[in-house]
Amino acid sequence: MSRFWPRRKDDHMPSRSGRWARVAPLLALVVVVTLLAGCGPEVNQPYSTISPQNPKTDDIQRLYQIIFWASLVVFVGVQLAIVYVVLRFRRRSDERPAQVHGSRTLEIAWTVIPAVILILLFIPTARVVFDHAAAAQSDEGFHVNVIAKQWWWEITYPNIPASESDPSKGPLVTANEMLVPVGSDVIVSLEGNNVMHSFWVPQLSGKLDVMPGHVNRLHFEAARVGDYFGECAEYCGAAHAWMRFKVKIVPQEEFDAWVAAWRTPPADQNPDTPDVVDVPTAFGACLACHRVNGTTAQVAGQGMTAISGYRDADGKIVPGPGPNLTLVGCRDTIAAGLLKNTPENMETWLKHTDEVKEGVYMPNYYKQGLTDEQVTEIVNYLEGLKPAEGCPGAGLPVGSEVDPASVGVIPPGAVATPVP
Ligand code: HEC
Repeated sequence: MSRFWPRRKDDHMPSRSGRWARVAPLLALVVVVTLLAGCGPEVNQPYSTISPQNPKTDDIQRLYQIIFWASLVVFVGVQLAIVYVVLRFRRRSDERPAQVHGSRTLEIAWTVIPAVILILLFIPTARVVFDHAAAAQSDEGFHVNVIAKQWWWEITYPNIPASESDPSKGPLVTANEMLVPVGSDVIVSLEGNNVMHSFWVPQLSGKLDVMPGHVNRLHFEAARVGDYFGECAEYCGAAHAWMRFKVKIVPQEEFDAWVAAWRTPPADQNPDTPDVVDVPTAFGACLACHRVNGTTAQVAGQGMTAISGYRDADGKIVPGPGPNLTLVGCRDTIAAGLLKNTPENMETWLKHTDEVKEGVYMPNYYKQGLTDEQVTEIVNYLEGLKPAEGCPGAGLPVGSEVDPASVGVIPPGAVATPVP
């Protein structure tokens, strides 16, 4: 049998370097704990789970803390026990130590102690899970319906009609950026039209699966003004990583201004963006899938019944609806957080659609013959789809920067990286 360490003439102790090798893991532990202690809500981490920004995520954060400290106690206890056993029972002579077979006391102890720990962790966890689920079932509050599609989010406001005078126009609908007024109790009803997705805004709520054929509901308080970053958290196909979205919590006046701007035809809010009949005929092809409110572009389907486009057996894209493009000039990003919304990026999107977002259900009409001039005309039209006086709610801070002095400051890394 090999020895723990070669016996030297004078004693059984390890050499100096051997002793260091044993202390090193302990030092590493101290460093890791110190680093972890440095992570905190004050650091701006829009996709972080430990940067809660409302009561729902505070609850989840408290659970993390309970679990963290409980794990730390267990971890330190186990490490100390190992060190004790190694030192206390180290080999001192060639005699065989007493051989123990089974111990009822120990067996009971190491079954009961973990069971008690698990029960203590389970109780607060179950309470939070059930409280959050119950809050989401309320009929009160500010309701938003979200349909997850490959690979973007259709957002409708069931209680806000698209037109005040004509109820047949259905509810107000947008994509990828969910505006909600600050102070509201937001209830999100989630549904998917083909595969599973998961809706997650780490700073605002827990994550919830989106199932085709089943409505899941999630509740969060719109506690603080700001932009909160969300993403699809369930692998859903080629462009899953580019299925991001934002919740923009805005002051009530900004929200009302946004609804009013949405309902105002582009020609009335900005003389540079007339009705689609006045824009290049090339845009006509886009209307198979896109709508612009207040214009003649009202053909494309929306909602659950509208599939998001698919490829037929020959790999050809069969038209299906895409995001509603009303006020698209006011969106921070295009294609679900993939590109920052700038004229250059809009041109990139139209010319390299399938290269920047692999698998996308939008055809590349540039490859199919749109000219550079036509693309420029379309870009100008789309970027002009915003009120002449500017977009409501623009320039608000990201979620964790609630200090008014920081308005308009978006930290590097928080905005989608443009794809070259
Ligand atoms: C076959 C249906 C289809 C056609 C036709 C189509 N699109 Fe799209 N479009 C989509 C889909 C689907 C998306 C969502 C892509 C994604 O993010 O995964 C999209 C996204 C967009 C976006 C980004 C919107 C946002 O909020 O992120 C713009 C802008 C756009 N399309 C413009 C156009 C233009 C301009 C044309 C015509 C040249 C066009 N589309 C033709 C299906 C279509």
